[in-house]
Order: sequence, then structure tokens, then C-alpha cells
Amino acid sequence: MPSDKRNGLAAVPRHIAFIMDGNGRWAKKRGLPRTAGHREGARTLRRLIRDLSDIGVEYATFYCFSTENWKRSDEEVSSLMKLLEDNLDDLVNYKDENIRLRFIGGRERLSDVLNKKMEDSERNSLSHTGLTVTLAINYGGRDDIVRAAKKAAQMCLNGEISPEDITEEMFTPLLQTEDIPDVDLLIRTGGELRISNYLNWQISYSELYFTDTLWCDFDKNELMKAIDDFNSRERRYGDAK
Ligand code: IPE
Ligand code: IPE
Ligand code: MG
Repeated sequence: MPSDKRNGLAAVPRHIAFIMDGNGRWAKKRGLPRTAGHREGARTLRRLIRDLSDIGVEYATFYCFSTENWKRSDEEVSSLMKLLEDNLDDLVNYKDENIRLRFIGGRERLSDVLNKKMEDSERNSLSHTGLTVTLAINYGGRDDIVRAAKKAAQMCLNGEISPEDITEEMFTPLLQTEDIPDVDLLIRTGGELRISNYLNWQISYSELYFTDTLWCDFDKNELMKAIDDFNSRERRYGDAK
């Protein structure tokens, strides 16, 4: 649900999720390597987090690396991982900006360095009360659901619950998003009209917004356009009105 009017703006969605797509094409247009696009994309992310925080969005979730992105060349994968390892603190200035930082995605395949940074930043920002930024790294929506299903199965084996106790309400917090509310608005840049295995469960009733703008060119103006569009929609959740 949109939160109350803030900063004199129209209602802002409580949770916005982003599929940050188009970095490779942005670089190609300029005759640059794909990695230069990812570096520029990181700058966009940094700016946008500040904008989201300014306008009073409570939760923002960003798709940084999918479970399928391992298919890319070793060079591109390692440069993406290095970008995260080297710049995590700068990418999200959680220390100065009261931002709570969280991560979703399988951590097993990520380096020790990155794991340590993720744990530290999560711990250090736990008490922050501003925007919750969730970075999805080695994340897949199906993988998220499978992991939750394993937890539910284990609870059954432990005798804590029986299969009849498995409901949508008890299953939702077993997902990696845990207590983060469902996505209100999903924004995908870069012109593709697909979900690419992102937050499958959590976007069941999200409003979807697709733009041809490449992620590196996405800015506050584009964000406000998406929010205006969101505010023009009628969310019915299956009801008849
Ligand atoms: C999105 O940009 C960033 C990641 C998937 C890591 P792409 O790298 O997919 O850029 P395009 O889609 O090839 O332009
Ligand atoms: C989705 O973009 C993943 C991220 C933005 C991290 P992709 O570029 O990987 O998606 P596809 O391959 O076009 O579906
Ligand atoms: Mg892409």
C-alpha cells in the first residue's frame, strides 16, 4: 500500500523493487567495455538511494546479480563481484544516511571478503530507522522459494508444525525477504518486458513499470514518472470495484 503523503509529494509506494538492466548496452553505445557500464550503474544506484530516502520510500530492493548471471564470462562475473567487494561501503552510504542495509541471495558462492562486508554492514545498520535497502546478490526468486520450502519441510521433520500448518502467512517470513512487505511497485529499466526470476512470490500483486531508459540513465525525474504512473493505477487485489 502507498504510504501517507510526505514532503508535499503524492503518496509514495512503500516498497519499490528495481531490475537494474541495460548497463551493457549503455557501455556498448559509447564504445566502452561492459564493465564500464556496471561502474556507471553503481553510480546510478548510489544517487537513487539518496533520492528514495529523500522522498520517504521505506523499502527499496535492487537486483544486483541473478542466479543466472553466473553464465556470463568469467571476466564480467569477476568484475561485478569486485565492484561489490570494493565499493559496498560507498555504494550504500548506510553509515551517514540512517539506511538499513540487507542482502538476499545465496551467500555460499560469494567470496569471503564479500560475505564479511555483507555481514558487517547488516550488523552495523541494524538499528537504523530510515530507508531499508536490500541488495539481491546471487538471487533467484525460485531459489528463494525452494529455500523457504526446505525450512518448512525441516520444521515438519522437527515436529514443530505439520504440513496442514503451512499457509501463505507462515511461509512468507521463511523467504529471504523475511519481514519486508510485498513489493508495491516493480521498475525494470532497459526495455525488456520480463521478470527474470526476481522476487516471484513478493511481486504477486505489484504494479509493474517498464521503461526503455537504460539503468545508467535512470534518475530522480524518471523515478517520479514511475511513481506518478503508480498513483494512477487502481489496485484491486482480485476484488470487484
Ligand atoms: C544489468 O545490466 C546488470 C546486471 C545484470 C548485472 P546488463 O549487464 O544485463 O546490461 P544489458 O542488458 O546487457 O544491456
Ligand atoms: C536481470 O537482468 C538481472 C539483473 C538486473 C541483476 P538480466 O540482463 O540478467 O536479465 P535477462 O537475461 O535479460 O532476462
Ligand atoms: Mg541485461
